[in-house]
Amino acid sequence: MPRHHTVHLHTHHTIAPVDRRVFGGFLEHMGRAVYGGVYEPESPHADADGWRSDVLEALRGLDMTAMRYPGGNFVSGYHWQDGVGPREARPRLRELAWNSVEPNAVGTDEFLALAARMGWEPMMAVNLGTGTPEEARNWVEYTNAATGTKYADLRAENGREKPWGVKLWCLGNEMDGHWQIGHVPAEEYGLRAQQTAKLIKDLDREAELVVCGSSMTFLPSYLEWDRTVLERVGDHADYLSLHSYVGNRNGDTLDFLACPGAIDRQIEAADATCRYVAARRRSPKRAYLSFDEWNVWYKTFSGEHMNGAGRFAPPLIEERYNLEDALVVAGFLHSFVRHADVVKIANLAQIVNVIAPILAQPDGLLLQSIYWPFVMFSRRRNGTALRTAVEGDRYDAVSYGSTSHVDASAILDGERLHVFVTNRDEGAAEVRIRVADTTIAACVDAELLAGPDPKTENDWDAPERVHAAGFEDVRIRDGEAVLSLPAWSFAAVSLRLG
Ligand code: AHR
Repeated sequence: MPRHHTVHLHTHHTIAPVDRRVFGGFLEHMGRAVYGGVYEPESPHADADGWRSDVLEALRGLDMTAMRYPGGNFVSGYHWQDGVGPREARPRLRELAWNSVEPNAVGTDEFLALAARMGWEPMMAVNLGTGTPEEARNWVEYTNAATGTKYADLRAENGREKPWGVKLWCLGNEMDGHWQIGHVPAEEYGLRAQQTAKLIKDLDREAELVVCGSSMTFLPSYLEWDRTVLERVGDHADYLSLHSYVGNRNGDTLDFLACPGAIDRQIEAADATCRYVAARRRSPKRAYLSFDEWNVWYKTFSGEHMNGAGRFAPPLIEERYNLEDALVVAGFLHSFVRHADVVKIANLAQIVNVIAPILAQPDGLLLQSIYWPFVMFSRRRNGTALRTAVEGDRYDAVSYGSTSHVDASAILDGERLHVFVTNRDEGAAEVRIRVADTTIAACVDAELLAGPDPKTENDWDAPERVHAAGFEDVRIRDGEAVLSLPAWSFAAVSLRLG
């Protein structure tokens, strides 16, 4: 017998419009993400600019919005001027974040041209590890200023007369972490970030700035860091960054599937800190949230997977993903939609090879399980998030406490209602969708992600074991929709109201 659940909705119980930038990605100069990932001039799949056209095609399916670049830990030792100008004159450097070799064949202008071509909004991270506020400011002049001054003219000399117009800038990366090149206490980072913010905003009033918040909730500085930094940067802080990598470390699927509850709490604690600082400062300006690195990552979180051993494009953290990981990825997206009033940017980390939905080998590519929940949400992301109340059985997750077997989120787009539902249970679930103030007239389309067991994964011999398939088990009855979900599954359903 399936368990019965009801998702209660009301079209006036809105949260906020879902910001399109919540469906962003992250491309770091790390492992085989850039070289051997998106860029591989010697590949038979390469286009005239050296980009892998098969990889770009797969990325188009994800339809990502904001793209964060060039790191990550990498950025804290990166000097942008090494990556502009004639390729043959660019230095080949020892890169210390991942102990690799960086040839700088891809840099600012290549990335921004790719972003324009892919429809990505660039989100550039500046180096506040070994870099200075002035170096960051010069980069903004290079990308955004009209010609007539030094760095803008340098851009024109390098072949791009028109400014790129990059709006989103991250002031460093994970500066609270002891692993970060140039890690400093919160007070000192706050000072660096404040000085950088002022220079950037003096140069470009349209710039939007993301300050480093707590990257990991287990650090002793958790939230105190955020408070200190927000107080120091003040009204220049448009967004506070947060990161999360989760994993099934104790081999307990039910527990792992409950971790989106912790994502909800992480978001709410960061938001509370933003509100607290705004209130303390008596300022009408409050920072919103940029969840600019998130994913499942635990199977390759150690030793050789994280050390390039002085090589060029080493295979780092090439995590393999299964069905349960995909359900957790759906869980992150549920949480972002449920917090649409405060989470304005989010970036799946990363996009190719490095903890990625796409794996590329010289002769082909593989779409991993986590590719699909992103696509299923992305296809239905326009509109306003609705409050969801799920009625039904709960279980006690060892690490995360009381958790509903069914997780849900919803987006209202005019007369179209998109509902996203995860069944975390090992048995089937019957899920009724009820909209209190109107009726559901029809199911427009529906997709399902499922598999025989939570450990099912795609591999090179069987690339489609876990993928989004058409979902037929949606019945419209008495103005309600009823979904019959198999065990361990995720459904995205578009319904017509009225
Ligand atoms: O995404 C991989 C790494 O994880 C990033 O470089 C860093 O910011 C985070 O710790």
